[in-house]
Amino acid sequence: MKAQLVANVCLLILWLGSSGHSAWALLLFLASFLPAVYSACRVPGGFAWRRAAAPAAGPAGWPLLGSIPIMGALAHRRLAELAQSYGASRLMALSLGTTRVIISSHPETAREILCGPAFTDRPAKESARLLMFERAIGFSPAGDYWRHLRRVAATNMFCPRRIAGLEGLRQRVAGGMIEGVREEMERRGVVELRGVLQRGSLESVLGSVFGESLGREREEELVEMVKEGYHLIGVFNWEDHFPLGGLLDFHGVGSRCKKLAEKVRRLVGELIEERRTNGAPPGDDFLSVLLALPKEESLSDYDITAVLWEMIFRGTDVVAIVLEWVMARMAVHPEVQAKVQEEIAGCLAGASRSVRDVDMPSLPYLQAVVKEVLRLHPPGPLLSWSRLAVHDVHVGKTFVPAGTTAMVNMWAITHDGSIWKDPLTFRPERFLEEAVPVMGTDLRLAPFGAGRRVCPGRALGLATVNLWLARLLQHYSWSPGRPVVFAEQLRLSMEMKKPLACRAVPR
Ligand code: HEM
Repeated sequence: MKAQLVANVCLLILWLGSSGHSAWALLLFLASFLPAVYSACRVPGGFAWRRAAAPAAGPAGWPLLGSIPIMGALAHRRLAELAQSYGASRLMALSLGTTRVIISSHPETAREILCGPAFTDRPAKESARLLMFERAIGFSPAGDYWRHLRRVAATNMFCPRRIAGLEGLRQRVAGGMIEGVREEMERRGVVELRGVLQRGSLESVLGSVFGESLGREREEELVEMVKEGYHLIGVFNWEDHFPLGGLLDFHGVGSRCKKLAEKVRRLVGELIEERRTNGAPPGDDFLSVLLALPKEESLSDYDITAVLWEMIFRGTDVVAIVLEWVMARMAVHPEVQAKVQEEIAGCLAGASRSVRDVDMPSLPYLQAVVKEVLRLHPPGPLLSWSRLAVHDVHVGKTFVPAGTTAMVNMWAITHDGSIWKDPLTFRPERFLEEAVPVMGTDLRLAPFGAGRRVCPGRALGLATVNLWLARLLQHYSWSPGRPVVFAEQLRLSMEMKKPLACRAVPR
């Protein structure tokens, strides 16, 4: 190292001394640093671990970039392969630019990360911060404010009574989707379910948040805002890993986020004002709940806007994405589809009514189908948003310094042959043979995360998926409208790369 420094200094002197500061001497001087940069990048785990020795094996990746080039549409698969090849399923170290990362592909270390007291923050991307999510549940640091929001969400927004209260809305939306499928079948002879499911999800989320229709114009405006928000959160921003005051923000993410946040504040602000003037519609929507909080718990209008915006944002895509995967499985596994339909018929025992939430305990096979889809196609294969160590911590016996980002590769866990028999086979029966909870207590299958930052909307999300699946299978028999491709695309969530097209025949 010393010899390297002496050589650099000699070259600098040579350059300064050369007449007219020759460009060659300058190039030589700069190039003399390459070996040092290269060796800093070749440490296990890569560049970001050059000072703190990496706590586990892991890829050095590219010079300076580390593993950024593999964080694309199939990052979960590439990371699983790497963990295997390094023998680092329990913990692997890697670098994303200057960000130090550890990743678990094992239920035990996943539990320590998700449920322990150290990884309670999330690393806030620039876009998340500018889109106000730091004042909402997902990205606010784990302090009093975040605990307050979680309490409000658990006791007022996602408690069993409220979820039951929202059933009427979810049933109405299901009716609308069934009608939408009929119309599309009549028009085109085939139905692209993604559009139907996305419209249904948005209507359901807006209904639970605002309790009433906002009118076509405002709803369309919100759809555009959510789309733009997904794009901005999903787009790779170099600034997140090489913060240089905006210099590397090639896509203008910062300024676009500011504009979008402005629009959200204007629209939701208007809705809050109207609600104060006109009073609440019947039923307890989230906005009424937040406005009615007792004085000592009340939130500012800015914070209410941030929380509601996050609910709309998080609640809209993921339910539609899960259902598209489920329906793809139903279309290509007619025997499983028929078994669910038989189960529904048995549960209704000849009554000509729609399936309801209360029927779910009598539909264990349907629930097993949903679990098997969450296992094979977890919508957040890397649990969507990572965690951040707020203090030094040991994961197992391994020391992890404060400020390290931690990810859990849930996809790797749910596809691990040492945990699941025939992991690539779609076989819902496995969940009838062994009860495996999905709400975050069993880390072999935790699609909603676990621990203190577990998804607060999981019960509502799951109730919605179960009910809509039951209604869609009750009314139609489904078959592929064109070949079903199970290729994945990881954006904010993991979607089907090729939208599913089905033929739906009324039953
Ligand atoms: C099938 C549906 C859903 C899936 C698979 C899902 C998945 C997830 C996952 C994996 C996390 C990260 C958990 C962790 O770090 O341990 C999360 C967090 C979160 N989810 Fe969900 N989610 C779903 C539905 C919903 C719904 C319907 C809402 C709200 C309307 C919602 C709101 C949130 C929020 C606010 C967080 C952040 C929690 C925090 O940081 O404290 N999710 N979700």
